[in-house]
Amino acid sequence: MKNDLLIKLDNIVKVYKMGDTELKAVDGISLDVYEGDFLGIMGASGSGKSTLMNIIGILDSPTEGKYYLKGQDVSFLKDSEASRIRNKEIGFVFQTFNLIKGLTAFENAETPLIYSGIPKKQRKEIVEYYLEKMGIADRMHHKPNQLSGGQRQRVAIARALVNEPSLILADEPTGNLDSKTTVEIMNLFHKIHGEGKTIVLVTHEPDIGKETEKTIILKDGKVVEEIVN
Ligand SMILES: Nc1ncnc2c1ncn2[C@@H]1O[C@H](COP(=O)(O)OP(=O)(O)OP(=O)(O)O)[C@@H](O)[C@H]1O
Ligand SMILES: [Mg+2]
Repeated sequence: MKNDLLIKLDNIVKVYKMGDTELKAVDGISLDVYEGDFLGIMGASGSGKSTLMNIIGILDSPTEGKYYLKGQDVSFLKDSEASRIRNKEIGFVFQTFNLIKGLTAFENAETPLIYSGIPKKQRKEIVEYYLEKMGIADRMHHKPNQLSGGQRQRVAIARALVNEPSLILADEPTGNLDSKTTVEIMNLFHKIHGEGKTIVLVTHEPDIGKETEKTIILKDGKVVEEIVN
């Protein structure tokens, strides 16, 4: 039996306007992602990977086309509604970790739960569980600048997971890590995927592109190849 459809992109176009010039960063992409899928997105610099991720993450609206998340049309939401769905359904992991400097690892991982209105005692249990699971519980009270890149990414993945989102979006999550740490972080993604999470991951590195279940290759905003690993 096929799992439920989580993401449906129907002919998504994204045009950036700069003065008189227009740039079609995403040029008619249709895509189905089912619950539990592990999808890779590859392509040269400027091919539209991050633009597509921003749309899937409801951080940006398409210029044309429709995006359905769990059957709901999320193509053009007002900001407050987009934020609410994002916080509930999507966990983000970025190349540059995007942790808040002044907060400890614990406090960083806790932030999505605060937005969700989860009481303090419960937050502590959840955050400790995920930091433990990511192998970073012993650095819980450290600030980001007291952590290595790999440790920061572990905190960022914990933060992406605390709300138990339907979807994890990772844009070059190992782009700032050495090869040994890359393997460790990829192993965490495999672990999460093995537990049933849906993951969409952007990467430059062909070796990582081979680790997902399926990888789409973008060129000039179009899907030019689909590789089933
Ligand atoms: N906010 C923006 N305004 C105007 N043009 C943009 C904007 N963001 C991206 N672009 C352009 O859209 C195209 C796709 O950019 P995008 O960031 O999606 O590429 P990418 O595949 O993620 O590249 P990289 O591998 O370098 O991260 C590029 O030509 C880029 O210059
Ligand atoms: Mg990018």
